Amino acid sequence: MSDMAKPGPVGSGGQGEVSPPELAAKGDRVGSVVYFSSASQNTARFIANCHLEDEGIDVFRIPLRPKDPELKVNQPYILVVPTYGGGSAKKAVMPQIKRFLNDPQNRACIRGVIASGNTNFGDAFCMAGDIISRKCQVPFLYYFELMGTKEDEDKVRKGVLDFFHNHPE
Ligand SMILES: Cc1cc2nc3c(=O)[nH]c(=O)nc-3n(C[C@H](O)[C@H](O)[C@H](O)COP(=O)(O)O)c2cc1C
Repeated sequence: MSDMAKPGPVGSGGQGEVSPPELAAKGDRVGSVVYFSSASQNTARFIANCHLEDEGIDVFRIPLRPKDPELKVNQPYILVVPTYGGGSAKKAVMPQIKRFLNDPQNRACIRGVIASGNTNFGDAFCMAGDIISRKCQVPFLYYFELMGTKEDEDKVRKGVLDFFHNHPE
């Protein structure tokens, strides 16, 4: 854990560039979570309610608007994303998330995915998790609906910590 790369200053381009976390780990860093949330902010509320930073997790947010600076990470992370597309597999993963994952440095650091969605979408519920898990060859660790429940928050907080304790780098 202590030998994991520490986040550095924001660079101007090229390999090794990293962005600052939205919420920095308190104490020794155990691992990182990267999330995306649209204007409805369900995932953002879920992440805030998990208080991952209190457990030693750096929390990074994929920017919503194209003009925002790109997110660059260089430390292992679990990705937390909502599903979109209304049932279309092609549109289930938001373009901002695809753009983030198409960066080789970002792609190399993903270790697992957690997805959210709405059960109204039937078979397409949380489909973004299946797609990212398959494409990036990482485990689909957990799913929850909308902004999750207290039980989801507790399970994700404990699950993320257990994951990084079992996969130290
Ligand atoms: C236009 C639209 C399409 C959606 N498509 C799906 C879907 O295919 N599968 C699913 O499980 N949830 C779907 N959802 C539900 C979202 O995943 C859910 O509302 C999520 O909590 C949004 O997170 P956010 O507010 O952080 O962006 C869709 C929501 C919208 C508004």
